Amino acid sequence: MTHFLDIHTTDPAALRQIIDSAQAMKSARNGQLRGAPDDEQPLANHMVALIFEKPSTRTRVSFDVGVRQMGGQTLVLSGADMQLGHGETIADTARVLSRYVDLIMIRTFEEQTLLDMAEYASVPVINGLTNTSHPCQIMADVMTFEEHRGPIKGRKVVWSGDGNNVFASFAHAAQQFDFDLVFTGPPPLDPDPALAGMYSTERDPHKAVEGADLVVTDTWVSMHDPQSARERRHNQLRGYQVNEALMARANPDALFMHCLPAHREDEATSAVMDGPNSVIFDEAENRMHAQKAIMRWCLGV
Ligand code: CP
Ligand code: NVA
Repeated sequence: MTHFLDIHTTDPAALRQIIDSAQAMKSARNGQLRGAPDDEQPLANHMVALIFEKPSTRTRVSFDVGVRQMGGQTLVLSGADMQLGHGETIADTARVLSRYVDLIMIRTFEEQTLLDMAEYASVPVINGLTNTSHPCQIMADVMTFEEHRGPIKGRKVVWSGDGNNVFASFAHAAQQFDFDLVFTGPPPLDPDPALAGMYSTERDPHKAVEGADLVVTDTWVSMHDPQSARERRHNQLRGYQVNEALMARANPDALFMHCLPAHREDEATSAVMDGPNSVIFDEAENRMHAQKAIMRWCLGV
């Protein structure tokens, strides 16, 4: 069974093949209406379940549209409306869904839920974000960087802010795609210790971004964080806002990324988000192309 659970647990050659395939599928569509089918229909007769235990705009729509472009059909399921949200085990849910669908994408809280789904499903499972990682996002981000600036290998990427789930997938990608990753943020919001060795730390954001080819940030309060953390996070992270002054210290052609949704004027200013080096909407678009390639790889089609 070929699951897509995380970037560090996927073979680097497969990751490269997925990025190349995503780029080829994107080029092949070349200006067609979003609702138009791809010339190839590799997901014809395939049913895909998209399970959301947390809110989503990009993941929901990009998976749904991507499946349809490839000739497949989708079931978009809210965890709260399933028996899963009322005490049925993930193992039983996985075995039941595997009798109906050919592929499962799940966005959930604990990583163990994803791992249990993968263990008990007899169809491929894709990680659509957990509290600890967001691999589909970073596959789209690597694709986006390379589309604008060429190979990411050996380049310098700086993450400013919370050492969260999206950062974790960047750290996994730094290892697999061989780029340098620098974390800049306050000690209480340091990344998961399991990521040690995959990145370096520089507490001073202005020093951190020197020589950066890409500057990235994300929301200061993630979906799994208690809302009560909000005020404290703002105080801890204010100095790590990505603004024009910070971008001016990076390389002149440094790109800016944010997985979105963003809280404008908190983690990043509108001047940067809407500035000439921002590729935030390309990232959002490339979620669809990258995930189409991930689904094809999982299904071997
Ligand atoms: N970036 C991302 O995963 O967005 P959604 O939460 O809207 O899916
Ligand atoms: N870190 C954010 C990413 C949202 C796509 C969260 O988990 O809420």
